[in-house]
Amino acid sequence: MTEPEGPPTILVGNQKGGVGKSSIVANVAAAIARKGRKVCVFDVDQQGNLTTEDLGVPIDQWDRGKNLGSVLQFGADLKPYKGIRRNLDVVMGGPTLGLVATAADRAADAGIDIADNFRRALHDLCRREEYDIVLVDSGHGDVTLLLALLAVCSHLVVPAREDSASFRGVEQLAASYLRAKSRGSRISLLGVALFEVNPRATARNAVITGRIRDLLEGSGAEPFTAAIRHAPSPALEARERHLTMQELASMADQGQSEILAALRDGRSADLPRLRARDPVPVANDYGNLTREILQRVFTASVQTAV
Ligand SMILES: Nc1ncnc2c1ncn2[C@@H]1O[C@H](COP(=O)(O)OP(=O)(O)OP(=O)(O)O)[C@@H](O)[C@H]1O
Ligand SMILES: [Mg+2]
Repeated sequence: MTEPEGPPTILVGNQKGGVGKSSIVANVAAAIARKGRKVCVFDVDQQGNLTTEDLGVPIDQWDRGKNLGSVLQFGADLKPYKGIRRNLDVVMGGPTLGLVATAADRAADAGIDIADNFRRALHDLCRREEYDIVLVDSGHGDVTLLLALLAVCSHLVVPAREDSASFRGVEQLAASYLRAKSRGSRISLLGVALFEVNPRATARNAVITGRIRDLLEGSGAEPFTAAIRHAPSPALEARERHLTMQELASMADQGQSEILAALRDGRSADLPRLRARDPVPVANDYGNLTREILQRVFTASVQTAV
């Protein structure tokens, strides 16, 4: 079977939870959309964090993953939530996806292939909406859904924290990735991105990067140079306000100049302030990671074409 043509579809996955999958999808997707590319993100997680927390779809408009669930199970058409940002749409996740994962084995017995349903609906959606790029956030528990995503997506980015549980998640994912490849998936591994690192711990980071390199040996992929630093306070505030780090950084910048103007005018600076100390460095980390991901996607597609 020939694969349908379409935009790059980047799966961000690790079978371990809490390693930055949703944060990376939200921040990278928003950064690409800000550059004027048309982007769609898929929240394939029953928690729906990307949909409601990171991107801020209003709760009364959240479908709790019903549309995506009926796409996977019954071959319905995709109906993204449009314009959560300029140039950015989201296919919503939520608890309905848990039901799909539970029923997937019985669905397979009945001749329903969730990967085929996803592939067809994704292809139709991208043709209809002319997206330049698609990013997919996978949940960590649903291996059945993950295998379907690995079968359909064109690229894989693996976030990892430096603890050993997170590395085990990478190993488990590598096994699922190889399984998908052996079944004919065209997916290509772009690299591993470190999440929640201390940028000052250079010796430790070099050791961790070495471990990732060992893990990636033979795959042709390198760890990303860009890493996302540990920044709990900006991360908390970004989620509370449903903002990306870049948006938080712009607000901080704007707030700063408003405060300075107020002080210059002799007004008391009683403006609403951000709590986060400095979101700019972590916003820059996401900018660097976005550039690297796009470079690798572009290089991979040139290599595939020749
Ligand atoms: N730069 C950061 N520094 C510290 N904590 C962060 C940072 N960015 C995000 N976090 C926090 O880390 C937690 C995990 O992040 P995130 O939800 O993106 O991971 P995930 O892999 O999608 O998790 P899950 O598997 O549960 O979906 C969240 O509570 C988030 O607010
Ligand atoms: Mg998540």
